[in-house]
Amino acid sequence: MTQQWMPPIYRDGDAVAILDQRILPHHEKVILCTTPEQVIRAIKTMAIRGAPAVGVAGALALSLGAEKIEGGVEDFRRRFSRLCQKVKEARPTGANLSWAVERIYSVVVENPKAGIAELRDMIRTRADAILAEDVETNLQIGKWGREVIPRGARVLTYCNAGALATADYGTAVGVIRAAHEKDPSVQVYSCETRPFLQGARLTSFELMRAGIPVTLITDNAAGSLMSQGKIDVAVVGADRIAANGDTANKIGTYMMAVLARTHDIPFYVAAPRSTIDIALPDGSGIPIEQRDPAEVTHFNGKKVAPEGVPAVNPAFDVTPNKYITGIITEVGVLKRPYGKAIRKALGV
Ligand code: MRU
Repeated sequence: MTQQWMPPIYRDGDAVAILDQRILPHHEKVILCTTPEQVIRAIKTMAIRGAPAVGVAGALALSLGAEKIEGGVEDFRRRFSRLCQKVKEARPTGANLSWAVERIYSVVVENPKAGIAELRDMIRTRADAILAEDVETNLQIGKWGREVIPRGARVLTYCNAGALATADYGTAVGVIRAAHEKDPSVQVYSCETRPFLQGARLTSFELMRAGIPVTLITDNAAGSLMSQGKIDVAVVGADRIAANGDTANKIGTYMMAVLARTHDIPFYVAAPRSTIDIALPDGSGIPIEQRDPAEVTHFNGKKVAPEGVPAVNPAFDVTPNKYITGIITEVGVLKRPYGKAIRKALGV
């Protein structure tokens, strides 16, 4: 894999470096975090975003925290457990954050006799493994996913499920990268993704840097393009997938899935197994993050709506499994019935 830019998150000595995605594509600036609170802030303010990248950030925040907690071992365990809770709460919808926190916390639970130095060491190793494994996982998702992309396909994607949303390479964009590597005639339509514009600012930027032909469209143009036969397949990422395959992703994904079904266009979700929340029987229980209404009433920091108009800003929606053609994971493309396929993929 060739590196196209600095990764969205990495260690820089004793600090965690986070590429500030709020100012991309025009400025490439790194935030150096030396405390878990700084990483939590970067997650909450969307300097780092995308469910898998947020999971990695959570893991690295905990390893920074472990270095900082002083006192006796019992005190360390208590304070570390409280920090885990705080990190988990940084963003509610993506499953990868709590998955990563649980994976780190299990180090403490599974080693009741370990001292502080040993625990710090194991936490750091586990956090680094979560980062490294994410890249490997995405490469596997790409390998499976490219098989469902037809020759010369015009692929619609939504939001940013790319290298920036993961440790590198991306999930949905990883599928596109892998397909394009095999067939350079593959091209992409990237929806701008109101209100935060991840598609306009991030996906088109990433794809251009990767040399993959991309055309930016407004979200409202997708139906028209589909009706004109200009889209062959849609691939999107996921923030949380319930046990029956219902999928939470960026607000507007549901709309795209319904449109795709109306026009007989295959609609794929690409995500690592860490995005699956087996404890949720269906999508109705997925917590949906509500963001500042100012993101809706304003554009580029400038108010566009009349003073005082109420606005709601749910950051995610849930696409019912019946609209999803397949879920591309690192162990293969899951097909209906999703309940059975998901349990098999997770080995439960
Ligand atoms: O609010 P964001 O930008 O974190 O939302 C991101 C998405 O919805 C992505 O599609 C999802 O996290 C998958 S990223 C591989």
